[in-house]
Amino acid sequence: MSRPTASTPDVTVWVCMDDADARARLLEDARRGLAAEPKDLPPKWFYDGEGSRLFEEITRLPEYYPTRAEREILLDRAREIAEVARAEALVELGSGAAVKTRILLDALHPAGTTSYLPFDVCEPVVRQSGTDLAGAYENLSVLGVVGDFERHLHLVPRHGRQLVAFLGGTIGNLLPDQRRRFLRQVRGLMEPGDHLLLGADLVKDPDRLVAAYDDGAGITAQFNRNVLAVLNRELEADFDPDAFHHVARWDADREWIEMRLRSGADQTVTAAGLGMQIPFRRDEEMRTEVSAKFRPDRIVAELKEAGLDVVRFWTDRAGDFALMLAAA
Ligand code: SAH
Ligand code: TRP
Repeated sequence: MSRPTASTPDVTVWVCMDDADARARLLEDARRGLAAEPKDLPPKWFYDGEGSRLFEEITRLPEYYPTRAEREILLDRAREIAEVARAEALVELGSGAAVKTRILLDALHPAGTTSYLPFDVCEPVVRQSGTDLAGAYENLSVLGVVGDFERHLHLVPRHGRQLVAFLGGTIGNLLPDQRRRFLRQVRGLMEPGDHLLLGADLVKDPDRLVAAYDDGAGITAQFNRNVLAVLNRELEADFDPDAFHHVARWDADREWIEMRLRSGADQTVTAAGLGMQIPFRRDEEMRTEVSAKFRPDRIVAELKEAGLDVVRFWTDRAGDFALMLAAA
């Protein structure tokens, strides 16, 4: 008997930002950030192939509760999400390895979702996850989009009524201004009947927060330092990753975790690709990432300001992480 199988997955990948494009942007960000006082780098450059692999390791660490908490909520609520959203297309921003996505698709696909659009800055993970998921769900058409969700959202094609998912607490990696702009742009993607599914990490005991970003096995430290390997490759720089130490600190006023790299010595790094010499003082810290933590009323208000009405708000049983469904 012959019937269509998922053995010839239907995957197309749309590249809004190719390697040359990404490199040009990284150069711009690095030229500004490495000359700034204090120095900083935007976190999107963490995710080359190696960075994405390390992040997947982070999601399995005992200290890193967000992935497990969000998975718990998704397992409980995927059916309800499917019923409320009635989506023809699932668009996932910052999709990464798209592991939790399967929980969603297990409910959405039988309920009529026929397109999946993973969107990520990291091309290899878009290709890999797209192929995996197209192979796992019969007749699911997958259109991967490689791009920067701060620049290319308007290029996401519409495949019918859509559910836009932004999971993992990645919203917290945007600074407040960027977040406002981003949420407005997401709102701009949405038509009546569309929904946003947003995962956000919640404010909690600082010790647990710091541990989640400074694990005992040192994987997060490796992840943080990997950005230096990216700079070495893309900027022809000579950072010695071992000369920088991973720092994760809770900023109680701004309610975010701040990830930094602290220079272990007075040193000068050369970035030939930028034509720059970059001096670091001993103990000087460069900010590589923030991960904002939210209070329920505040994130709901931020969504409202962006024109998004929260219609469901769930947390895991421990109250560590929130998942929200919002309508345009
Ligand atoms: N959604 C997954 C992965 C979260 S990690 C999960 O919940 O486990 C954050 C993901 O966002 C990474 O895959 C990273 O490559 C992607 N990302 C970060 N900044 C981005 C940007 N500006 N544009 C597109 N993708 C981005
Ligand atoms: N979105 C994730 C978070 O903020 C990304 C992340 C987890 C991360 N651990 C990290 C980013 C360490 C940089 C460094 O939780």
